[in-house]
Amino acid sequence: MAREHVIPHILRTGAVSLFLAVLAGCIAAAAPTTSDVPLPTIARQNGRTALMVDGAPFTILGVQANNSSNYPAMLPEVWPAVEKTGANTLEIPVAWEQIEPKEGVFDFSYVDTLVREARTHDKRLVLLWFATWKNTAPSYAPSWVKNDNARFPRMIDKQGKNFYALSPWSKTTLEADEKAFTALMAHLKEIDKARTVIMIQVENETGTYGLVRDHGPAAEAAFAAPVPEKLITALGKKPGTWSDVFGKAAEENFHAWAIADYVEKVAAAGRKVYPLPMYVNVALRDPLKEQDPQTYAAGGPTWNVLDIWHVAAPSIFTAAPDIYCHTYPEVMADLNHYDRPDNPLMIVEISNTPSYARYFFPVLGRHGLGFSPFGMDFTGYFNYPLGAKKIDAETIGPFAADFALIGPMMREWARLSFENKTWGVAEPDDHAPQTLDLGRWKATVSYGRWQFGQPGVFKNIDAPDWAKTAFGGMLVAKLGPDEFLVMGHYARIDFTLADDKSGRHGMYDRVEEGRYENGKWIFRRVWNGDQTDYGLNFTSAPQVLRVKLSTY
Ligand code: DGJ
Repeated sequence: MAREHVIPHILRTGAVSLFLAVLAGCIAAAAPTTSDVPLPTIARQNGRTALMVDGAPFTILGVQANNSSNYPAMLPEVWPAVEKTGANTLEIPVAWEQIEPKEGVFDFSYVDTLVREARTHDKRLVLLWFATWKNTAPSYAPSWVKNDNARFPRMIDKQGKNFYALSPWSKTTLEADEKAFTALMAHLKEIDKARTVIMIQVENETGTYGLVRDHGPAAEAAFAAPVPEKLITALGKKPGTWSDVFGKAAEENFHAWAIADYVEKVAAAGRKVYPLPMYVNVALRDPLKEQDPQTYAAGGPTWNVLDIWHVAAPSIFTAAPDIYCHTYPEVMADLNHYDRPDNPLMIVEISNTPSYARYFFPVLGRHGLGFSPFGMDFTGYFNYPLGAKKIDAETIGPFAADFALIGPMMREWARLSFENKTWGVAEPDDHAPQTLDLGRWKATVSYGRWQFGQPGVFKNIDAPDWAKTAFGGMLVAKLGPDEFLVMGHYARIDFTLADDKSGRHGMYDRVEEGRYENGKWIFRRVWNGDQTDYGLNFTSAPQVLRVKLSTY
């Protein structure tokens, strides 16, 4: 650990290049050279999903770097933020423009540096393929692509004019993207026998703002043709043209199909070479009400077209919502939309505003595969008002506290989440208590309380600092019929018997604080007396409890 903190600092001095060259050599030598480390995969059982890394379930405690941090010179300003957050994974772009600056000429020097440095920091990587679409635009496509509209056509608007986004109907663009992506995957296959790279994001926030579909000649012909049979069958619709089958939603559904089909072809070509798990991220539409498709990234995997994306893009295992919406009801509605048996929940981007750290709990409680705040590096760029105004200890702290809870037991948590029931809640904006239905037991999670005393008993006392902003959250996993693993932040949890007419009462048999080490529970102490008389109260301390309940 100490060495990992020191490396970024000495990298900046430039005086230790020899040391680094030797170190890099040692690490490269230490990395496996054969493919005996299992490939990361997506496993499914009993309707639950796990990301398998090195053959066992893995939870991504990630951070995503800023967009332009994808150069070797920036990495010394990225790793310290990864370390300080206690993340086990860095999500970072690989741009088409940087790996294929001239057509057919590939440069993987950044990828090599990145993978090598990730290993020295003992971190995993999720690579973000910024290519035909980055926030819907072709900004990260190489110059030879974005300046050649004849070969790589843009979408055409209703007036017949070039639009900003590239057309998903161009075979030439698709083949060029596929070729570059395949070269990247082939390179990873060759250099990454240690499986440092665990997952790939294909494109970034697809869709189009301000135009619901392409009106170029290929698109027009396809729009007038029958809806592909595969989609008709999967959705149980009657055959017909897009307008016949989908009415008002025809244009958006058509555009979603076109983009999803394109992304599928890129992903499938890459997976054919090196089958890492692949996903897409989503620029969200309003999660709670209808919205004019001209005003969001229409055709991207928004919740209203998720079924179409799943039929068109089977090589993509999930669509991950980018969470920047402002209110608790909106965030929870988005989690609902993207937590489906065919779309395992995974958060690859969430605002790094400190209060968003509390959404870690419902994401993991819903068996989420990962949680990663965005823009976490020390390059001096802050995406306020989507995220925090600065990246300092105050911003990093709540996310680091989340990761400090799960980090030491990440493998145990990931296994539990794959095999058992879990529950998680975040404090609502109005701080109201929430109820968890745990089967025989019911738990109430409440917020803004001091650790001692029942509400209302002591008059005229000040509220704790954590009562002002919604920072709280709670996570519960079932260990047995009456036994739960419990942890949280700035929240209180009380257990009662679900059946309150049974005439019996619930009690704590034993509440143990401890930690997991190499799969074994290591006892620290028993909570009793004040520590259990007023519920189980959590602050930001990394406390994990095994709670055994009983009745009298
Ligand atoms: C979502 C995108 O996916 C990110 O790359 C970034 O542009 C953020 N929005 C805004 O900072």
